[in-house]
Amino acid sequence: MTKNTVVSGVRATGDLHLGNYLGALKQWVQFVKNENDAEFLFFVADLHAITTPYEANELADNTRQITAAYIASGIDIEKVSLFAQSAVPEHTYLQWLFTSVTPLGWLNRMTQFKEKAGKKRDNASLGLYSYPVLQAADVLLYKATHVPVGEDQKQHIELSREIAGAFNHRYQQDFFPLPEPMILKEGARIMSLRDGTEKMSKSAASDMTRINLTDDADTIAQKIKKARTDPEPVPSSFEDMEARPEAKNLITIYSSLAEVSRESVMSKYGGKQFSEFKGALADLAIEKLGPITAKMNELMADKAQIDAILNKGAARAREIAGPVLEDSKRLMGFWS
Ligand code: TYM
Repeated sequence: MTKNTVVSGVRATGDLHLGNYLGALKQWVQFVKNENDAEFLFFVADLHAITTPYEANELADNTRQITAAYIASGIDIEKVSLFAQSAVPEHTYLQWLFTSVTPLGWLNRMTQFKEKAGKKRDNASLGLYSYPVLQAADVLLYKATHVPVGEDQKQHIELSREIAGAFNHRYQQDFFPLPEPMILKEGARIMSLRDGTEKMSKSAASDMTRINLTDDADTIAQKIKKARTDPEPVPSSFEDMEARPEAKNLITIYSSLAEVSRESVMSKYGGKQFSEFKGALADLAIEKLGPITAKMNELMADKAQIDAILNKGAARAREIAGPVLEDSKRLMGFWS
């Protein structure tokens, strides 16, 4: 049996938030702990970050900060290659090759493009439109078998599978494996603290909608205290919880952070006032996130060390990527 290859990434835009942590990073850490014989590649998607407005003088530090968040969350750098996507030029090369097997109709279906482009779609960049093709290259370049992500990336990973299938079919080879999206049953879609029907996101205008991994204890406590709830007490049953998106979100956050079931959270707090539950949730969030924030700050104080980790990771990534790109070109008939 060939060994598993696990690939995932986070866009280098702004701070990471609790959704990124619970939906993606925490799952990666667990995966790395449990699996001793897989190749792990986690990168910072800085090429993806330039598809929406960004500050050039912040990009490199955003990349470092996300790398610091990976390490601070518990990613074992002895087992994992961490790198910046832009340090492995094979990503963009493979993307170009893939554009020739990707019909426009597939890209037109992408909900993330629609959300990010907004109403003025004609003003969105070509980069934003072709974003999912680069994402397919990100994973297929390493012949990834597993891609751990949050719920909102499911459609992109399904597109990666379609692109792999289209390439294999066009060139009559079983060349790319179809990567499996790995999405948690709970915590894969953490919602805004202000609106239980909107996902927690870096791009929401109000900072009160999300908990950032850089927030200090007071800020976390304030945000949880001010989180929207309804006037009823904490739900005690699934039926009750399902109909109340804000309550459901806070229960899900508690259960993911504490690593206990939602049933047990409801059996402890069901019927109690939200003020009490929020106090307990704030304490828990501070207990779990505080050490991560502290470690991130410590790592960011030594940028040279982060850069060394990124360089080492990029060297390993290129070792794998180079031959896959060469083989892809050969199958496509290029001169070499
Ligand atoms: P990004 O940077 O938006 O998010 C990074 C990871 O966090 C997850 N996530 C969430 N999970 C739960 N609840 C939320 N509210 C929430 N918000 C975000 C995302 O699902 C993701 O796993 N296109 C990707 C980055 C990317 C990538 C890739 C991922 C580029 N190439 C290849 C996997 C494989 C993105 O924008 O994620």
